[in-house]
Amino acid sequence: MKVLCFGSLNIDLCYQVDRFAAPGETVDSRAFTRQAGGKGLNQTLALARAGARVAHAGCIGQDGLFLRDLLAESGADVTHLRVVEAATGHAVIQIDPTGQNSILLHGGANRQITAAHRAAALADCAPGDWLLLQNEINDVAALIEAGHARGMTVALNPSPFAGTEALPLDLVDWFLVNEFEAAQLAGGPGDPADRLTARFPAAAFVITQGAAGALYAKGSERCFVPACPVQAVDTTGAGDTFTGYLLAELTAGRPVQAAMELAAAAAALAVTRPGAAASIPTRAEVEARFARQRSAQQ
Ligand code: RIB
Repeated sequence: MKVLCFGSLNIDLCYQVDRFAAPGETVDSRAFTRQAGGKGLNQTLALARAGARVAHAGCIGQDGLFLRDLLAESGADVTHLRVVEAATGHAVIQIDPTGQNSILLHGGANRQITAAHRAAALADCAPGDWLLLQNEINDVAALIEAGHARGMTVALNPSPFAGTEALPLDLVDWFLVNEFEAAQLAGGPGDPADRLTARFPAAAFVITQGAAGALYAKGSERCFVPACPVQAVDTTGAGDTFTGYLLAELTAGRPVQAAMELAAAAAALAVTRPGAAASIPTRAEVEARFARQRSAQQ
C-alpha cells in the first residue's frame, strides 16, 4: 500500500518577529530564512522520514527545483512532480517568540494542476492506496472524486479552510483538521466531534488541538492522545508532521491510538526546531524521544 500526496510545495520566507504586524502597522524582523515548505511537501516528507512508501504529485517552477531534490533525497517518488512555467508557490511566515505563526500564501505553480496531470498520477495508484490532499492546490474537488472512484482511501487536510464547503466532502474517508478547521466544518454550537460524526457518519476525524492534544472520532468511537510537553520554538509544520506520521502508521496497519501517540511525539519534536520541512524528525529521532517519554512516565 502506498500514499500519493497530491499537494503544494512552497518556498517559505520566514521572519522572526516580536509580535505579528497589525493592520496598517510596519514591524521589523529579528531574523530571516528561506526554507522548504508547503503543506503537501511537509506531509510527504514526514511520511518518507517515518518510513512510508509515498509519492508526491504537484507543480513547481524552475526556482523550486531544490524542493524536488529534497523530496527525492528523502525517498519519496517524484515521478509526478512537474516543473511548469510559473513561479513556485511561496509563503510569508511571521513567527513570534512563543513559536506561534501567521502565514500568508501565494499559490503560484501550485495552482497549475491539470486534468491530464491528475489522471497520470492516479493511474499509478491501486485500489486500497491512500490519496492525501490539502487545500493549497487547484483541482482538489476533482482529485477527491477521482481518488474515490479508483477505490483509494481519501484523506483531506482542509487547510486553508476557504472553499472547503464546496468540495465533495461526503467522499472523504479521513479528515485531518486542527481545532479551528473542526469548528468551521462542524458549523454550529456543541461538541465539534459529535457534530462532525453526525454530519459525516462514515468518516474518521483526527482533530489536533496543539498543546491540548489530539482527538480521534468516528461514529461513537473516541480516542484521545495528550500532547507531549515541550518548549516551542516554531510551530510551523507541526500539524503536517503529525499528519505524515499518523498516515505512515495507519498505512502500516498500526491501531489508531498507537499511530496518534507516535504522531504526537513527532509533532512535539518538530515544534522544538525552526522551519517547516527542516523541523520534521526522522523515525529514529521520534522513537528515541518516545522511548524516553515512556520511561519517564513509568
Ligand atoms: O503547514 C505549514 C505550511 O503552511 C508552511 O510550510 C507554508 O508553506 C504553508 O503551506
